[in-house]
Amino acid sequence: MDKANVADYLQSTRDVEGWFFPIDAYLFALIDTIQKDEGISGNLFEIGVHHGKTAIFLGRAAAAGETVGVCDVFGQQDLNVDRSGEGSLDLFTSNMRKHGGVPGNRLQIFSRRSDRLTTADTTTACRFFHIDGGHLRADVLSDLETAVAALGADGVVALDDPFNPNWPGVSEGLYEFMRVRPGALVPILIGGNKVFLTRAAAAGTYEKYWRRPEAWGQWIDSAAYRFEAREWMGRQVQTAIRRAWVDLDPLAAARDHLTSSGWKSRFLRRLLS
Ligand SMILES: C[S@@+](CC[C@H](N)C(=O)[O-])C[C@H]1O[C@@H](n2cnc3c(N)ncnc32)[C@H](O)[C@@H]1O
Repeated sequence: MDKANVADYLQSTRDVEGWFFPIDAYLFALIDTIQKDEGISGNLFEIGVHHGKTAIFLGRAAAAGETVGVCDVFGQQDLNVDRSGEGSLDLFTSNMRKHGGVPGNRLQIFSRRSDRLTTADTTTACRFFHIDGGHLRADVLSDLETAVAALGADGVVALDDPFNPNWPGVSEGLYEFMRVRPGALVPILIGGNKVFLTRAAAAGTYEKYWRRPEAWGQWIDSAAYRFEAREWMGRQVQTAIRRAWVDLDPLAAARDHLTSSGWKSRFLRRLLS
């Protein structure tokens, strides 16, 4: 994906309800670009779809021959124990048809709780696995196990909300996973609302790009973020650090999220400055 593709994605999905900030989309694109540069191919999978906002991005990133798999409880919301989002199969399929860019024969939909997924569903050749389903400790622990089993040798897992105080179960599940499966996954990137992990043997493949600003510079807006290593889990983990805590500067946050170059965005940006 290049910058124009991401801008088009952000613009055309602005009315699709979901939780995927521009910085998250840019970091997904950074990983996708590295994978394509490195010749890493494989399938893409997502747990937790809601109306398809992030799944559409995965659909657009998928190369020919790669499948996109998604899992959500959809209409069975009694199985959505913590009430994180509210999947809708109808809205997902119509949004995906309209915006997703992946033909139906390369899209696989699993309507069930994610702890019922098997490797026959996920495949064991994923290059990108996004976890954004149940936000309780047990769900996150189980979803990380599912992701490790599904990941190809150089694949990346993106976990949503690991530092979100609204969903403390996510960090609890992540730390529990790190405790019971030491070394199975290591963090390589933190930013937006996500942490990105890969197998220890593959970490260097990604981390060498952090030393090359020309590789990540287009994705990290230097007015809004610094891109530096932070010590975490015994490693130096590259982190997109907000220059101002957006909750303390809501006007700057609003300007940050007005990414389109259309006249409405330009007008609102000027109004908010
Ligand atoms: C936060 S939303 C996902 C947001 C989505 N990724 C987006 O694009 O904005 C969480 C979703 O996970 C689903 N969900 C919750 N618990 C689940 C579980 N145990 N297994 C599968 N899906 C689950 C919900 O129905 C909801 O659609």
